[in-house]
Amino acid sequence: MSDNIQTVTVLSKTTWTPHLFSFTVTRPDSFKFTAGQFVRLGVNPSKLKHYQQLSEDLDAEPIDEDIFRAYSIVSSPFDETLEFFSIVIPDGAFTSQLQYLQVGDELLLNTTPFGFLTLARYQQPLPKDLWLLATGTGLAPFLSMLQDIQTWQDYEHIVLAYSARTVEELAYVDKIKQLQEDFGTLADNPAQLIFIPIVTREPIEGALTERLPKLLLDGSLQDEAGVDLDADNAHIMLCGNPEMVEDTKETLKSMGFIMNRRGEGNIAVENYW
Ligand SMILES: Cc1cc2nc3c(=O)[nH]c(=O)nc-3n(C[C@H](O)[C@H](O)[C@H](O)COP(=O)(O)OP(=O)(O)OC[C@H]3O[C@@H](n4cnc5c(N)ncnc54)[C@H](O)[C@@H]3O)c2cc1C
Ligand SMILES: NC(=O)c1ccc[n+]([C@@H]2O[C@H](COP(=O)([O-])OP(=O)(O)OC[C@H]3O[C@@H](n4cnc5c(N)ncnc54)[C@H](OP(=O)(O)O)[C@@H]3O)[C@@H](O)[C@H]2O)c1
Repeated sequence: MSDNIQTVTVLSKTTWTPHLFSFTVTRPDSFKFTAGQFVRLGVNPSKLKHYQQLSEDLDAEPIDEDIFRAYSIVSSPFDETLEFFSIVIPDGAFTSQLQYLQVGDELLLNTTPFGFLTLARYQQPLPKDLWLLATGTGLAPFLSMLQDIQTWQDYEHIVLAYSARTVEELAYVDKIKQLQEDFGTLADNPAQLIFIPIVTREPIEGALTERLPKLLLDGSLQDEAGVDLDADNAHIMLCGNPEMVEDTKETLKSMGFIMNRRGEGNIAVENYW
């Protein structure tokens, strides 16, 4: 096993829907990361308790190889454990196995953190507003940022817009509300977190229902936030579905925003596939 791959143990699992779950694992002492980064996680299906429990009933041997995928870290850089938020793709090599994870199972963690969807990429002076736009599990890096006090100290308004197909798939809503309370009421904290849930495939009271590019273009996202969106005042991060990232990026460019390069510019993005 390569030097930077370590074994971690599953400590807890939360099932949100049949296709969405979260889990925590032990954090190796030496592993450091910046909020917004991702790691490569590995699973060897044959070592999962699930298969050991089923072994007598199995027609075929489970796969005995390490399968790795990129995963954003949900937890804060200061947490003692590492949390992840996962989709289940029934015919996906990794998540069709990972879905069976149980407390006590072991995973592999490549302890090199990757990625530039971090607030450190932006140069000073910072604008007053931070817009975090996510679809599905693309919420993960933003949850990490929102648990880092620095984010709250750096911006005046933090707008988190989170789009899912159904209300059931809007995971972490209680956690987001808790963060609003915990960080938003700290005496030395100037920031306000504005949370905007978006549900696109069922009618719902209290949530927007259109896709992000349309909401930005017709101004309803800005109206809902109660915050103006203009190129002088905003950093904007996009994460999740690559089509959303592409469409939203193009929409923002048509509105006068520019891609962030070498510290300058508004928009930073991360595609999940
Ligand atoms: C930088 C980065 C960070 C990532 N972070 C996360 C994360 O925090 N949580 C997470 O669940 N996935 C994340 N992914 C995706 C992840 O790496 C895998 O693609 C995912 O676990 C599915 O693996 P799979 O082998 O089952 O299917 P794959 O063969 O990898 O994917 C099959 C198809 O499933 C769809 N798909 C893949 N991932 C997702 C997803 N997250 N949401 C919706 N549809 C998807 C796409 O259509 C893709 O073509 C990230 C990817 C990248 C590049
Ligand atoms: N969600 C499930 O129950 C489920 C179940 C089994 C498998 N899967 C698989 O998981 C993957 C998708 O999962 P998901 O539901 O997490 O992700 P998703 O399809 O990316 O949907 C999440 C949110 O992103 C929005 N979106 C998609 N494309 C967009 C675009 N171009 N611009 C703006 N917004 C956009 C969706 O709106 P729209 O609703 O308008 O698309 C939805 O609100 C697919 O491979 C799917 O087959 C999902």
